[in-house]
Amino acid sequence: MTAAMKKIWKDILDEITPYKPGKPVEEVKRELGLENVIKLASNENAIEPSPRVIEAITRAAGSVNRYPDGGCFYLRQVLSGKLSVPGDNIVFGNGSDEIIVQALRAFVNPGDEVIISDPTFLIYRIAALIEGAEVRTIPAKDYRHDLDAMLGAVTSRTRVIFIANPDNPTGSHITRDELEGFIERIPEDVLVFMDEAYYEFARGGDYPETRGLIEREDRNIIIARTFSKAYGLAGLRVGYGLARKDIARALDKVREPFNVNSIAQAAAVAALEDSEYVAASLALVRTEKRRFYEAFAPLDVSPVPSWTNFILVDTGRDSMKMFDYLLRRGVIVREMSAWGLDGCIRVNIGLREENDMFLKVFEEAVTEIPREKEIK
Ligand SMILES: Cc1ncc(COP(=O)(O)O)c(C=O)c1O
Repeated sequence: MTAAMKKIWKDILDEITPYKPGKPVEEVKRELGLENVIKLASNENAIEPSPRVIEAITRAAGSVNRYPDGGCFYLRQVLSGKLSVPGDNIVFGNGSDEIIVQALRAFVNPGDEVIISDPTFLIYRIAALIEGAEVRTIPAKDYRHDLDAMLGAVTSRTRVIFIANPDNPTGSHITRDELEGFIERIPEDVLVFMDEAYYEFARGGDYPETRGLIEREDRNIIIARTFSKAYGLAGLRVGYGLARKDIARALDKVREPFNVNSIAQAAAVAALEDSEYVAASLALVRTEKRRFYEAFAPLDVSPVPSWTNFILVDTGRDSMKMFDYLLRRGVIVREMSAWGLDGCIRVNIGLREENDMFLKVFEEAVTEIPREKEIK
């Protein structure tokens, strides 16, 4: 680094490791000389977009010489109707990732504290560090957020606390009762960021419906959701936040003016109107996830119960060896040592034939690679 660059380099950059993307499937095929390679590493929806979404994208493509509608007028209207949430309570982002960034940009000053679980979604820490925050990480208990310990870590300097429900990479969820207890005890001047990227997969049972929380005057809550998972639009980057109007207005002030592109807006409207696609996605995940757990049961591994479209598995083996074994046979999963989860891999539910391929190769890997540590 030149002396001049040293002068303008922010110290915080030394603490941040850039997100490491996996290799494109085509590149893995070429490098390993494989014909069939499947990627189950990024918690995507395995089902290709519906014809209705593709038609909307094609139509919108004809107007890309124009800037997008910075207010997401039609998308706001359709989403508002679907969720019964007034339009002023909705903010849109370039993926729900951007809602995380907006929240921290709006509410965190250098030196303020941000509380997160560990492990959890990596972006919270990175985005908080960029704002100059001190990040307090609270170890998860049995792969679940330890809400009591997170509450115990709150100080007068705490501004934001992140609750991923369900969480990534663990897949675990917080129940309605647990969340109610937490919300009652959280101080009024802390912002609770409820990340519900996997909301559609988790709904029902004891999973909390949080929409009503944004009406509370005595709590500060943002609920973030996405079109990337159940709606199958990960490649277009569109997500949203629900919040009280003053909070939504704050996020609106710090966002890029044209943060959601026009093709993404058109596709999201079409996706909201295509309930069959979402239903098919949820059904696929439900059935296939059951099959994964059945296949894991006789193997010498420990999968974490999942409320999402992916499963974290403690293999008890060297996870780099597991990753390589699977990769060489054309199956890309996520190796979890970057999260401090040595021995674990994360795999998302694919199409049925992809899952067949994963389960077959995974069983072979477990048989051939010796166990190195105890698993729960
Ligand atoms: C917990 C969680 N939050 C947020 C996101 C971001 O999703 P997107 O930016 O695609 O909406 C993800 C993506 O994997 C996630 O797992």
